[in-house]
Amino acid sequence: MKVVVTGGNGFIGLEICKTAVSQGFDVISISRRGYPDHKEAWMSGVNWVSANIFNTDRWTGYLTGADAVIHTIGILREKPDHNITFERLNGESVIVAASAAYTAQVPVFVMISASDAPPILKRYITAKREAESYLLEQKIRAVIMRPGLVYGEGRKGSEVIAALTRLGSRVPVIGTFPSKFSPVHVSILAKAVINSILNAHIQGIIQIHEIEKLGASLPQKEEIQ
Ligand SMILES: NC(=O)c1ccc[n+]([C@@H]2O[C@H](COP(=O)([O-])OP(=O)(O)OC[C@H]3O[C@@H](n4cnc5c(N)ncnc54)[C@H](OP(=O)(O)O)[C@@H]3O)[C@@H](O)[C@H]2O)c1
Repeated sequence: MKVVVTGGNGFIGLEICKTAVSQGFDVISISRRGYPDHKEAWMSGVNWVSANIFNTDRWTGYLTGADAVIHTIGILREKPDHNITFERLNGESVIVAASAAYTAQVPVFVMISASDAPPILKRYITAKREAESYLLEQKIRAVIMRPGLVYGEGRKGSEVIAALTRLGSRVPVIGTFPSKFSPVHVSILAKAVINSILNAHIQGIIQIHEIEKLGASLPQKEEIQ
């Protein structure tokens, strides 16, 4: 199995790369900085390519023979002066990567989307939803993961926020907010992504509770063709 992870050196991308390496996959990461900020032994199992997703000439060559593209690029904070907006990073970047994957005949495209966003981040989620619609209209298999809050050691403070969100879900007066963002550990999301690639029947939108089920375990390496 050969997988290309866009944003592979980010919080979620890194865990997906690590899980894919543990399964014996060939893994290529595409991101502007290339290498992650720190070193761990498993990282030597990844080809860390430095390229901006919008400079397709720099990275689409790596799609040859790939079995899946996993797109994790996205932002929570905009920098309009640098043309870093929700529309461009959460929307257009998905379409650019998916179009390249389709041209290279990669059989499955996985997008890390999101369950929802607070009203102040309306454009964050609108851009994600527009990209999802584009993927669902295409003829190849698209898997759209919609996690709530993703937590793990790699994202400072996320474990505390996850604990508070879980606590909030037990207080009815807070409303539906906590359940909409029900936290998932990054390792479960990564396993769900790998399992979705391996199971050709999985496609379309995968909601929070389905991510939990899909990410419960991984197949034994010898079960993977
Ligand atoms: N974290 C959460 O709680 C959460 C919850 C729900 C959904 N999500 C979604 O999950 C995805 C990943 O989130 P994250 O928390 O892992 O984000 P992150 O840590 O900020 O990672 C983003 C990645 O995108 C890369 N990137 C950004 N702009 C790029 C560009 N122009 N070209 C190439 N690579 C680029 C970054 O690497 P470089 O800087 O090296 O380019 C980095 O690897 C996002 O789409 C986010 O909306 C996250």
